[in-house]
Formats: sequence, C-alpha cells, structure tokens
Amino acid sequence: MKIIITKDYEELSAKAAEVMLQVVKQDPQAVLGLATGTTPLGLYAKMLADHKENGTDYSRIRTANLDEYKGLPKDHEQSYAYFMKKNLFDGLGIRPEQTNIENGMAKDAQEECARYDALLERLPRDIQLLGLGSNGHIAFNEPGTPFGSGTHVVTLAESTVKDNARLFKDIAEVPRQAFTMGIRQIMQAKKILILASGANKADAVYKMAKGEVTEQVPASVLQLHPDCTLIADEAAACRL
Ligand code: F6R
Repeated sequence: MKIIITKDYEELSAKAAEVMLQVVKQDPQAVLGLATGTTPLGLYAKMLADHKENGTDYSRIRTANLDEYKGLPKDHEQSYAYFMKKNLFDGLGIRPEQTNIENGMAKDAQEECARYDALLERLPRDIQLLGLGSNGHIAFNEPGTPFGSGTHVVTLAESTVKDNARLFKDIAEVPRQAFTMGIRQIMQAKKILILASGANKADAVYKMAKGEVTEQVPASVLQLHPDCTLIADEAAACRL
C-alpha cells in the first residue's frame, strides 16, 4: 500500500483530485467506482472546480457506486443516489444513464445483488474510491464480512448507525440495512484510492495499513491489492 500523508483535509482533497483526474484524462471512457460520505466531499469539490475551469470531459465516463440504503428511493434526500447527483454528477454533466448504484427499493434483494454483481463484471472499474469507517469498514462491509463476499444486504453496525446519524434529523431515521458492493468486487478494481481524515479514523488507519490482514478489519484486505494508495491527513495518520 502506497501511503501519502498530507498536512490537512484541503491537501488530502487536492492530492486525491490529482489521482482521479489522471485516470479521467488518460481514458475519457474510464469507469469510476465512487463513494459517498463526508470524506470525498473535498475531492468532489475539486473535480467540480477543475471541470468548470478546465472543461475536463465526463460525457463518456461511467460510474458505479459502492452502496445504497435499503428502503430509500433514489430521490430521497438521504439516499446515496441523491447524494451523488447533488454533490458530483449534476455539476460534471454526468447523466443518470452513465451511473450505476444499487436500487434501494428493489422488491427482491437477492435479485438486486445478483444484478449489481453481473453489472460490475461487465464494467471493470479503472479506479475505486473508498472512505474508511472508524471500525475499519469499507463500503458497508462491516467487521467479520468474508473477503470473498459479493454484493449483499447488511445490517449496519451500531457504530455505523451512530456515525451516520449526523446526516439525519434523528438517529431513528437512519436506515438499519443497506446494499453494499462486496469486498471481492472492491478488490477487482485496477486501482484503489482510500481516503481518511481526522483523529477518529487514526485507529482504523493504523489497523488497516500496519495491522494483521483479518476479516475483523475489512480494510486490511487492501494490503493485498497490487495498486492501492492511501491518502491520510496528519490527524488520521498519527498512529502510523
Ligand atoms: C460510503 C461508504 C462508507 C464510508 C465510510 C466513511 O459510500 O461506503 O464506507 O466511506 O463510512 O464515511 P465518512 O467519509 O463519512 O467518514
């Protein structure tokens, strides 16, 4: 794992944008695996600024997101489909048909997981962006998830529900289940970029990068990927 430590979140976002833009410029039809959450917001803002200033072309880019809450429709303000549209896709001119995400409202969850797995097979990702859960999760693969897992429905760990509650009016509104890309598909991406910011991620960063490779720390599997870069700010990297 290549490790880049930045002085703060601003520099982390700038470095992450460099990596992402290199992929997009090298192949205007690249497939970008994308993440939601707070961490990539600075990166997304940099991509939007670059698109405005330099006109980087996203008209043929395709995207595949990591996860979606089960039970939320795509136009729900807290759905990840809505988050991506609002924070990235609309500003870059990425059309809905260029994007992919699990359908939180799918009637048959098993069928939806199989559909997403088949789609990811047809759409190999050039880069997979990840954030890191404070408990070491990647996407919604919580501690204990088998490394060989495909897309599946998870019941979120209580710590994840608490972490995500800040985005909802009330913790009771946080969905308890989600669809998530599996660890197997995350590892299939050609390149992985994982971002971590803030002292509350320091323990997870240490275990991911320097600890034992174990299913108890899902992100530790990234030590086995041939092209994985971690960008962490000083606060998140303080235990390395
Ligand atoms: C988001 C995702 C999650 C987050 C992680 C960190 O699509 O899959 O694994 O990346 O929970 O979230 P933030 O960035 O909000 O700290």
